[in-house]
Amino acid sequence: MNIFGSKNNGDFMVTPWTVEGEVDYNKLVEKFGTSIIDDRLMERFVSVAGEDHHLLRRRIFFSHRDLDRILDDYESGKGFFLYTGRGPSGPMHIGHIIPFYFTRWLQDRFKVNVYIQLTDDEKFLEESRGLNLEDTVRWSNENALDIIASGFDPDRTFIFQDTEYIKNMYPIALRVARKVNFSWVRAVFGFTYETNIGLIFYPALQIVPSLFEKKRCLIPAAIDQDPYWRVQRDIAESLGYYKAAQIHSKFLPPLTGPVGKMSASKPESAIYLHDDPKTVRKKIWQAYSGGQPTVELHRKLGGNPEVDVAFQWLYFFFEPDDSKLKKLEEDYRAGKLLSGEMKNILIEKVAEFLEEHQERRKEAKELLHLFKYDGELAREMWKKIYK
Ligand code: TYM
Repeated sequence: MNIFGSKNNGDFMVTPWTVEGEVDYNKLVEKFGTSIIDDRLMERFVSVAGEDHHLLRRRIFFSHRDLDRILDDYESGKGFFLYTGRGPSGPMHIGHIIPFYFTRWLQDRFKVNVYIQLTDDEKFLEESRGLNLEDTVRWSNENALDIIASGFDPDRTFIFQDTEYIKNMYPIALRVARKVNFSWVRAVFGFTYETNIGLIFYPALQIVPSLFEKKRCLIPAAIDQDPYWRVQRDIAESLGYYKAAQIHSKFLPPLTGPVGKMSASKPESAIYLHDDPKTVRKKIWQAYSGGQPTVELHRKLGGNPEVDVAFQWLYFFFEPDDSKLKKLEEDYRAGKLLSGEMKNILIEKVAEFLEEHQERRKEAKELLHLFKYDGELAREMWKKIYK
């Protein structure tokens, strides 16, 4: 049994590769040894950030490690930096882009550097995906455009792709790798004797960017990536760096129902960032609903917003206004609002979000060089590490 997710005693599993079943986030926090963001920490965070964000307020980002220390370092002037990433296995869906929009917001509030890792190596090594290296390199470039379209500040953001930037990462990766033995990663990641040796080494590479600066690093991501940070935190100090801090999000539920996560192998379960309004409408229209089988019954018994994917998506990301959201919830429960009406509200929001995102993405190609490894930030970073 691996230590970060097991179907043996529960009905769900969360690993960096799969999310199955209905996730019990409280149990997960216990299993992973992270902490729930409590009201006090939330209030402090919002006050230091100088602005609230619905992803925080609604506890979509719900768990953390050392977030309080990040705030201490920020307030004392030591500062911190942000790190997040993407495994370029194909086009990005809406779930994938949420941590980037949130990271962009954090950058904007705290004016800190952001490092974004594109793991073309990782997605090539995951054999079951059947991708060759040319594919994952190409997806890195495509995904970088979506990431840029989230609005990062080019003066403070460095986007890099492992197969390109490896020369600069390798010396740190070696120091990490020498500290981590096979039985440890086997326990954490569930590797077997059949796992290819590239994947066994790979965790060292995902840890490297958390050591890019001699400051505390804050990693915003969904909680599936947590196993890497656990290893990082066990070795960072012995290498003369800080333990990385994390802020973990829940998973945007798939359109097919409140179980598991959106998956490239089930395209109907996700909305992609390139989907056109017609596709958005069709997919949301077919989404799992918490409504009753007939209008009459719905009016009489009301719907269940807790399992209604359209409502859940509005809650998760697409309706930032709490009072509007509350009204939708109440009207739905009371049977005043029908499932189709809820879906139409979401369709409009998603279509508008995608239209704006796609518009910005068109310009992103021109901006790419500002974020890539020839940028000023990269040079500064290199000097800090090697001089
Ligand atoms: P990847 O490409 O699987 O996921 C990219 C980011 O999206 C998050 N995520 C989700 N968030 C909300 N709802 C969902 N349904 C959902 N599905 C995925 C992931 O947690 C992640 O934040 N190995 C990583 C790449 C990576 C990375 C990192 C990620 C390298 N360094 C540092 C985070 C932080 C991967 O394959 O991510």
